[in-house]
Amino acid sequence: MHNTLSDMLFTKALQGEVTKKVPFWFMRQAGRYLPEYLELRASEPDFLSLCYNPKKASEVTLQPIDRFKMDAAILFSDILVIPDALGIGVRFEKGEGPKLERLKNISDLEKLDITRIENHLSPVFETIKLTRNSLANDKALIGFAGAPWTVACYILQGKGKNFNEALKRAETEKSLVIALIDVLTQATIDYLSLQIEAGVNAVQLFDSWAGLVPDHLFDALVIQPNKIIMQAIKKRYPHIPVIGFAKSIHDRFGVYARETQADGLGVSMDMSLKKTMEEKLPHQALQGNLDPELLANNLDGALAEAHRILDITKNIPFIFNLGHGMVPHTPVSHVQALCDLIKGYERERTCHYV
Ligand code: CP3
Repeated sequence: MHNTLSDMLFTKALQGEVTKKVPFWFMRQAGRYLPEYLELRASEPDFLSLCYNPKKASEVTLQPIDRFKMDAAILFSDILVIPDALGIGVRFEKGEGPKLERLKNISDLEKLDITRIENHLSPVFETIKLTRNSLANDKALIGFAGAPWTVACYILQGKGKNFNEALKRAETEKSLVIALIDVLTQATIDYLSLQIEAGVNAVQLFDSWAGLVPDHLFDALVIQPNKIIMQAIKKRYPHIPVIGFAKSIHDRFGVYARETQADGLGVSMDMSLKKTMEEKLPHQALQGNLDPELLANNLDGALAEAHRILDITKNIPFIFNLGHGMVPHTPVSHVQALCDLIKGYERERTCHYV
């Protein structure tokens, strides 16, 4: 069956509607807090093998939807499949996070080949087809990529927790870093376009480390690449909504919202929802803000906070989500209680911002 975006609560919010029920999904909703994920994960030798196994990746994508009935599934993959496709070695080691072959100089950059995206990432496009076929018509499938700066952080540093070295290189090797950002921008446009051709209904760009960028580099490393990617996607696929999640950008949120013209804007847990409501454009939807650690550690506190979030956003297009990814020690019962609260919440007034 063909789906139209107007059948989906999730995409209605991204089209500027204030709906009676609030659509919801959670970043990292498929992952280690779920016993059924851990079981399937154990059947593959490493994380990337799971990402590149269409049958299993599709099953993982659907696991949280089967359990909690969210309004959207997010493709199970990772932002680091782009460097992997470009020919930079990527490894995920248990308990250590990702390790990449660090990009040293311009001659390393010249070896990156964006024509490899289509072929190397064909299992991802196959996962999208399988998942879209088994997902109900009223549920959206979200595709995604990392924004260039966030992906560049891993490529420039080789590994990451704090990105001091990537930041230092952005200052001292600026032309190399900008050239890398340009390559990643083109690769991301190609990759998201292929995801849309395979059947995703919306795309999200994750700029997890945007908040680290100093003001004088913010336009070049964050605003421009996000804007170029989103505008290229909107031009090619005007019916596909795009969400920009630039984490912890604080007082630069307004400029990000206006410049990118994203249909939806992620709000991390360290930002004020009230302030972002004032700074976004009327038709733009907000998404996020609940602290994932609060959800993991203090259910009563999380439910009270969820209620507060729903009340403040009752007159704007809004998608309920966390302010960053679900953490592995989140009890499944807490997630269930949160889903019940969101599903039971109804707005009094509905309207449409155009
Ligand atoms: O459910 C979903 O959200 C879809 C799948 C998804 C994953 N990663 C699966 C994953 C998505 C959308 C991502 C995005 C991602 N990956 C980001 C942006 C969002 C964010 O969290 O800031 C980033 C920065 C990455 C890079 C990455 N991938 C890191 C740093 C790590 C290791 C740290 C960790 O959390 O373990 C990963 C691994 C990863 N990606 C896991 C999952 C489920 C855990 C790996 C495992 O199961 O062994």
